Amino acid sequence: MASMIEDAINGFYLGDDKLKELTSLMEAEFEKGLCKETNDKAEIKMLPAYVTETPNGKEEGDFLALDLGGTNFRVLLVKIDKGEVQMFNQVYAVSKELMTGTGVQLFDHLTECLWDFLVQHDMMCQLLPIGFTFSFPTKQYGIKKTTLVRWTKGYTATGVVGEDIGELLNTAINKKFKIRCMNFDLKIMSTVVNDTVGTMVSCAFDYPKTCMGLIVGTGTNMCYMEAQEKIKTLEENEVTPGKEMCINTEWGAFGNNSGALNAVITEFDKSVDEDSPNQGQQIYEKMISGMYMGELVRRVVVKLMDAGLMFVGTTSDSILYTSGLSTAFVSQVLSYDYNQSDFDLLKNYISGFGAVATNEDCVVLKRICEAVSLRAADLCAVGVVATAKRVVANRGNVQVIVGVDGSVYRRHPTFKDLLVKKTMQLAPDIDIRFELSTDGSGRGAALVAAVESRIHKLQL
Ligand code: BG6
Ligand code: GLC
Repeated sequence: MASMIEDAINGFYLGDDKLKELTSLMEAEFEKGLCKETNDKAEIKMLPAYVTETPNGKEEGDFLALDLGGTNFRVLLVKIDKGEVQMFNQVYAVSKELMTGTGVQLFDHLTECLWDFLVQHDMMCQLLPIGFTFSFPTKQYGIKKTTLVRWTKGYTATGVVGEDIGELLNTAINKKFKIRCMNFDLKIMSTVVNDTVGTMVSCAFDYPKTCMGLIVGTGTNMCYMEAQEKIKTLEENEVTPGKEMCINTEWGAFGNNSGALNAVITEFDKSVDEDSPNQGQQIYEKMISGMYMGELVRRVVVKLMDAGLMFVGTTSDSILYTSGLSTAFVSQVLSYDYNQSDFDLLKNYISGFGAVATNEDCVVLKRICEAVSLRAADLCAVGVVATAKRVVANRGNVQVIVGVDGSVYRRHPTFKDLLVKKTMQLAPDIDIRFELSTDGSGRGAALVAAVESRIHKLQL
């Protein structure tokens, strides 16, 4: 029976050979996504983000930024002046009801938060250009039109897929502000960017060599600067030879239909996927990101509980049987050590879930959390290396700086170190450096709006 514990844990350990194989498979999927003929069927969509330049320090002006799609919704005022960025921001909640209701309700809520923010800053009826971090897969038609390809991360709001996000925001803002501001009829200039893009641009402002943007939070995704000639999905007139463009990979979809991850998927991954609102989608993301990490641990624990191998004496009322464990729980468990006083803390913590734990249970629980976390970091390293290889193929063997953000990268006690270590092991010849994005992707979205304003010499 003890082997059931070992089998469950060992299923999460992937050797380097397997990780290298996965790296090649991901590189091949990147190619498919970039090619016009195969993009339709490609699982990794490699979406052109129409960001061709990172900030050069000459941007200036005041911008608003909205940031939706992570744990929180944020509204920001970003003031850019002579290379200095000043930010004021406010966090607002987005309830599950809003995430899964109608698009109109969702965008009305965002607008209500924006109004509240403007009131607080004594800026009512005074709208600035908006940089909108919209952290979902979108198809861009140039920088000005962005439609939602599909929802991810538990969002299902109706009437948004296929629609122009900037327009939905515009409509909601005009509706609200018309009632409150006399004669308000403004065509708002909003620039919609993915959170990976916002993160990359934000980091590039501080570290100009930044050419990749990674998020490991509620979801996971990567963007990077690609040679325009290699983006075969662009129209001929959109390509400037010798120039680059940012690609939002949407790598979370790796393994959706290519079968690339079949050899490493466990029964726990399968059941997490089966019970998710987007079954069969975001397979790679479900093995890595914060929305699923705690749930994976819970499913292993429940299997071992049912077999009488863990938390013996716990009744079926325990919330472990029903509600998800958060990734914050995994982080908490990993922050305890293997000693008696930490076991006592952990046992007390577990009793909060209506479960009874022994010292041995604490050891097993910690080992499960370690295994799930290690696999998440290993798989993420696979993606980082596959992406860095594309950068190196374009730019030569230069230093590659990856701007990173997300709650898992920021708060999980071991993830970051495991990711860095595995990345170096898988790509010893590439100089890859990770830099935490200090101010979130909202600042990057405002900077993209600022770069746009500079390029098009818009009057601010
Ligand atoms: C933040 C960004 O910094 O990171 C968000 O501003 C992004 O847009 C987020 O989605 C990812 O983190 P999490 O953990 O909140 O999903
Ligand atoms: C999901 C979204 C993607 C986003 C990522 C990180 O994968 O589809 O657009 O970048 O989460 O937030």
